[in-house]
Amino acid sequence: MRLLVVSDPHWAGPAEQARRGYESRAIRNPLQRALAAAWRRGFWLADPLAHNDKLDRILALNPDPDLVVANGDYSVDSAFVGLSDDACCDSAERCLRTLRAAYGDRLLAVAGDHELGKHSLFGGVGGPRFESWQRLGSRLSIPAWWQRDLGRHRLIGIPSTLVALPAFEKELLPAETPLWESERRRVLAEIAAAVDSVGPDQRILLFCHDPTALPFLAALPEVRRRLPQWEATLIGHLHSPAIAGLARALAGMPEIRGLGSTLRRYSSALHRARAWEDFRVRLCPSPTGAQALKDGGWLTADWDPERAEPIPWRHHRLPW
Ligand SMILES: [Fe+2]
Repeated sequence: MRLLVVSDPHWAGPAEQARRGYESRAIRNPLQRALAAAWRRGFWLADPLAHNDKLDRILALNPDPDLVVANGDYSVDSAFVGLSDDACCDSAERCLRTLRAAYGDRLLAVAGDHELGKHSLFGGVGGPRFESWQRLGSRLSIPAWWQRDLGRHRLIGIPSTLVALPAFEKELLPAETPLWESERRRVLAEIAAAVDSVGPDQRILLFCHDPTALPFLAALPEVRRRLPQWEATLIGHLHSPAIAGLARALAGMPEIRGLGSTLRRYSSALHRARAWEDFRVRLCPSPTGAQALKDGGWLTADWDPERAEPIPWRHHRLPW
């Protein structure tokens, strides 16, 4: 069978298109604004609103996979509060409509961090909102988590922000914290049970948008016990294989405090990133990759799920 994985399409609907300059408007400090602009233009992605064509091109090049996993980040999240913002929700709905029109019930979708919201780069604006969590099911029909048994493999999709909630603690609205925490307890218990009930000759293939969640997942004894049966963990979030390589090199670095929540969250994730190895992390790049390298694309694997052999992943580059 052919498995297709796409991640981080960051589709921009008309309402988000109308917010050009949204990122710099969210940063008050002029020096930080200049730094963010240099990072965007020089490396990351100069115009985040200009890449809707990439998903269509990937779908046209992959007309008939047997199973498709979309690994999160369907909108631009230009208000930084995820799907609770109507413009972001509209972008994500349009993006998923396109994916479902192409693949129907062959599509399994995972929530990314931008579906739920997170602080803007440097700006400290926004964050996860509980309404965004609710809209994940009610508007996008994405379940909190899912599992699918395929031959000798169990595929599991998890919501990385919810699993990594302690890393987002400072970005939550205090009144919503108990709601998030109780939802996290419920979902973690269900994920632990799904991992625990894997048969002795089954392999686990995890889909988790943001690898920040992995050390939190490793805190579950049910997960630790099953790590020898871990085939791979498909992540998104980092967009570029070069960034994923850098993150691996920086694994274990000290946490940086006092320079803003984004830097603290990223450095704390890298501080714990040695756990990624146990989960056999593999990046599905965004369609664009980094602006400077244009190293994005998608992943496919032609494999026999009845056999417990390593899945032969292929990264296809999308020229632009
Ligand atoms: Fe993303």
